[in-house]
Amino acid sequence: MQKIAVLSDIHIDRSSDELPGIIGELTASAGAELMILAGDVANGTDEALAGLKRIRNHAGIPVYFVAGNHDIWQSPQGADQDSKSQPDSWQAYNELLSWPENLAHGPVSLEGGWQLAGCGGWYDLGFAGREFTREQLLEMTYKGKGWADRRNTSWTGEPERVHRYFLGELRRQIRETGNPERTVAVTHVVPHASFTVPSIFPTWRFFNAYLGSGDYAELYREMNVPLAVFGHIHHRFDRTLAGTRYIGCPLGYRREWKHSDDPRRECKEAMKIIELGPEDSINETRI
Ligand SMILES: [Fe+2]
Ligand SMILES: [Fe+2]
Repeated sequence: MQKIAVLSDIHIDRSSDELPGIIGELTASAGAELMILAGDVANGTDEALAGLKRIRNHAGIPVYFVAGNHDIWQSPQGADQDSKSQPDSWQAYNELLSWPENLAHGPVSLEGGWQLAGCGGWYDLGFAGREFTREQLLEMTYKGKGWADRRNTSWTGEPERVHRYFLGELRRQIRETGNPERTVAVTHVVPHASFTVPSIFPTWRFFNAYLGSGDYAELYREMNVPLAVFGHIHHRFDRTLAGTRYIGCPLGYRREWKHSDDPRRECKEAMKIIELGPEDSINETRI
């Protein structure tokens, strides 16, 4: 049995400075042996790495991480700069590889033949409504509102290409485990359309474009991956689709919290503790 604490989108800079201590307390009281943090620790690489270090120090267990879009943002303080004047996002992505437990380094073997595989992933625009053209979606602006990655990321290559790179990396990693059927796959982006924002919110028919790609779910189905962890969308999910259990447990921005006066309570509600057991069992325990 291996106990794992799962959490994403902690956005330390937009939630609470007490979080690393709180996460440490919660993982200790649950007896978690490792943690999966599925991206968006903070805005910018320096801030994300500093946050990871503080969490690791408090929790005292490995903190396996995949890069979120916010973690690679290049100008946390100068968000109104044009992305064209900024360094390439690949550079920021590579800086995050200095975190030794960044899952982009390759699969990690756990007890009982279980494995962890992961990478941040990116979006391929495919979750948007069909009424929008690719050119409109590449603009990342709708009715005067812009998607913030437009200003804060600057990949060489279009989003679909960035996505395909990450999808290929994830496929390679899952193969490398030699045991996809006992692999926990982690992305930051949303892997299945079921977890996008429902189209009763018209602007989200546009902005869903930047949430992820259904190719990740397709990959999990093809390879019989039993458990997928993701973040990015600040809604919590635990649902099984086509044989894969999907867990999304974001903390989100403080303004989104149900218990905004109590970071401990909110964090406890967001964090999931799962147990990977023998015979492919995935159980959940309370903190
Ligand atoms: Fe987030
Ligand atoms: Fe995100």
